[in-house]
Amino acid sequence: MAGNLPPVIAIDGPSASGKGTVAERVARDLGFHYLDSGALYRLVAWAALDAGINLENESGVSDIALNLNVIFNDGIWLNQKEVGAALREEAIGNAASRVAALPRVRQALLARQRAFRQPPGLVADGRDMGSVVFPDARLKIYLTATPEARADRRYKQLMDKGMGASMNALLQDIRDRDARDSARAVAPLQKCSDAMYLDTTALTIDEVVAQVLAQYKLALQVP
Ligand code: DC
Repeated sequence: MAGNLPPVIAIDGPSASGKGTVAERVARDLGFHYLDSGALYRLVAWAALDAGINLENESGVSDIALNLNVIFNDGIWLNQKEVGAALREEAIGNAASRVAALPRVRQALLARQRAFRQPPGLVADGRDMGSVVFPDARLKIYLTATPEARADRRYKQLMDKGMGASMNALLQDIRDRDARDSARAVAPLQKCSDAMYLDTTALTIDEVVAQVLAQYKLALQVP
C-alpha cells in the first residue's frame, strides 16, 4: 500500500512516555522529518482558547483546526508568534486532550499530518499514527511506561525548567489524560496489533532510541 511513498516510523503511546524525545532523536539519526502530532492538537486548543471558542463547540474548534496558520521552523509559529513553550503547559495539554476527542477536529488535521510524509522519510509521534494516520507505516512502536514513572519524568522536566509542580497533581493528571485518550470513540489511544510494545519504565532514552533504530533496520529487511 505504501508504494513509493517515503517510509514512516509511527511512535504512539500515552502522555509523558518519552515518545517525543525518542521520535525526535530517531528522526535526527536517520535524517528523517519529524511530526509531533500532539503539537497540532495543542495548537488547536491554544488557538481556540485564544479566540474565546468553547472547547465543546465542535464546528468552531474544527474551523480553527482547518485554518491553522502554523509554521514549524526553529520553533512553532502560530500567526507569526512563537508559541512552543506556551503549548507545553499542562493546561494546554488537558485542553488538547479535550479537543482531540472531537471527530471533526481529528478529520480536519488528517491531511496536514500526512503532508509531513516527505523524502527521505518521517518519524511521527502521537496516539493514532499507526492506527489511523499512517496505517502503512514501515515500523509501528507503542511506547509506554508506568504512570508513576511518567509523572516522575514530567516532574523532573518541570523542575529543570524552574517551574513548580506537585507530584500528586501530575500523577492524577496523567491518569485522567490516559483515561480520556483511551476511552474516546474516535481514534482512541491503543496499541495496534502490528505495533511493537516497548515499556521504557526501566530504560534510558539512549537505550530506547537504540532499540527503535534496531527494529527499523530489521523492518527494512522485510520485503
Ligand atoms: O502528545 P501530547 O501530550 O503533546 O498530546 C496532547 C493531547 O493531544 C493528548 O492528550 C491527546 C491528543 N493527541 C491525540 O489525540 N492524537 C495524537 N495523534 C496526538 C495527540
